[in-house]
Amino acid sequence: MTVATLIPVAYLIAAVTFILGLKGLSSPTTAVLGNRIAATGMLVAVIATFFAADVQGGIPVILAGIAVGGIAGFVGARVVKMTAMPQMVALFNGAGGGAAALVAILEFSRQIDAGALEFGATLATLLALIIGGVSFSGSAVAFGKLQGIITPKAFRYSGQQLVTGGIAAATALLSLVLLAGAVAGSVPVEPMLLIAVITLLALAFGVALVMPIGGADMPVVISLLNAYTGLAVAMAGFTLNNQLLIVAGTLVGASGTILTRLMSKAMNRSLGNVLFGAFGAAPAGGGAAATAGDDGRSIRSISAEDAAILLGYAQNVIVVPGYGLAVAQAQHNVRELADLLESKGITVRYAIHPVAGRMPGHMNVLLAEANIPYDKLFDMEQINPEFPRADVALVIGANDVTNPAARSNPGSPIYGMPILDVDKAQNIIVIKRSMKPGFAGIDNDLYLDPKTAMLFGDAKEAVGKVVQELKRAA
Ligand code: TAP
Repeated sequence: MTVATLIPVAYLIAAVTFILGLKGLSSPTTAVLGNRIAATGMLVAVIATFFAADVQGGIPVILAGIAVGGIAGFVGARVVKMTAMPQMVALFNGAGGGAAALVAILEFSRQIDAGALEFGATLATLLALIIGGVSFSGSAVAFGKLQGIITPKAFRYSGQQLVTGGIAAATALLSLVLLAGAVAGSVPVEPMLLIAVITLLALAFGVALVMPIGGADMPVVISLLNAYTGLAVAMAGFTLNNQLLIVAGTLVGASGTILTRLMSKAMNRSLGNVLFGAFGAAPAGGGAAATAGDDGRSIRSISAEDAAILLGYAQNVIVVPGYGLAVAQAQHNVRELADLLESKGITVRYAIHPVAGRMPGHMNVLLAEANIPYDKLFDMEQINPEFPRADVALVIGANDVTNPAARSNPGSPIYGMPILDVDKAQNIIVIKRSMKPGFAGIDNDLYLDPKTAMLFGDAKEAVGKVVQELKRAA
């Protein structure tokens, strides 16, 4: 038995670790372990691949690639802030799609040199090339929008759908020419030229697909592109006859698709609406910094001292974190506040909305960073029945996920989106800097509720002031 015969065994072990890793990622308590298990499996797979006969000539290049990619990944993961994580995922994802497309191009050139374009292999390689190319350029645009390099606004022009449709049709047509050539045994034009044009079209399609989508919808788009990358990698696995790539790519494709669906569902939007609808555009009358309702209700602003008194007399507090908490990096101050309240015998729990923040699990990761125990974090379904019993719901930098219009106003763009029932609490304190709307660009009726008190300010500073007031009163 040679070492090479053990490669499939190593791949099988790696595939099992990937599945265990994904299972671990389903809960915050097991996520880190799950990540480590899957990473160990990947290491096993990479080491095993070094023993494969067909990579022997290229080991120095592979090592150089691993060094460059490894350093970039390590540094990126260390220095990138949590709020910039979606762009980093976009970059990594684009790299995956691009790699699958490059593998496909090399494989085509190898097959053509060998004079053996065969239908099945050509189809798989074409799919890896097209899907990988779309994912690469789409992710690059998503990165640019999130990073502010290109305008995050939805870029639209008349006849856009025609152009995008035309690119898709041309890609499909040229692919059919190549496939027909593979069946007939000869391609009517120079095959590598055809492949170069298909590559350019796939790249153009990725750009055309993502440019019309607003920056705020990018996390959903990135999740979708992630699923594309998985598919492209699985196709590259067919091309290279590598079972592990097929398994890993399929897992990424399936989990990316599920995540995309979950995110769309939690925002009460269809994927079609994300891709082709204009969201985030404020409806008429909405989006202005409303400070009074039509019925004469007005907002009530309080000081940090008032907030500290209200919290100090409570028995049951539910903290509702949102995007603003992440931007302000207020998680450690929130932890300090909770510790203080708990030391007075007050129960503090956290209500986690599935799309609070800007990426899946954003709030869980953020609060975990401040060592807030997982057993204090509650999903929306678990915590919603608890709001009527809460003395204070403390909303920190959250807006849309607390907007009662989602329940009561059929005309609202977020109507139907499940929300946290913050308005059912006995008292509500909202920390944000102004009356400006959140991601959906709409006013929040919660702020006009007589039970609501607004503590205006940056989340970190405002929570810090409340902590000081509580300490002073102790
Ligand atoms: P948002 O509705 O976006 O509201 C965040 C609020 O934070 C804003 O109203 C803003 O008000 C406030 N804020 C910003 N910076 C702040 C700071 N430094 N200090 C204090 N407050 C600050 O957030 P949310 O309630 O978390 O809802 C998330 C939204 O994003 C949903 O509409 C969701 O559909 C969407 N979305 C989520 C995801 C995922 S997967 N999580 C993906 C795509 C889209 P001021 O400007 O007045 O301070």
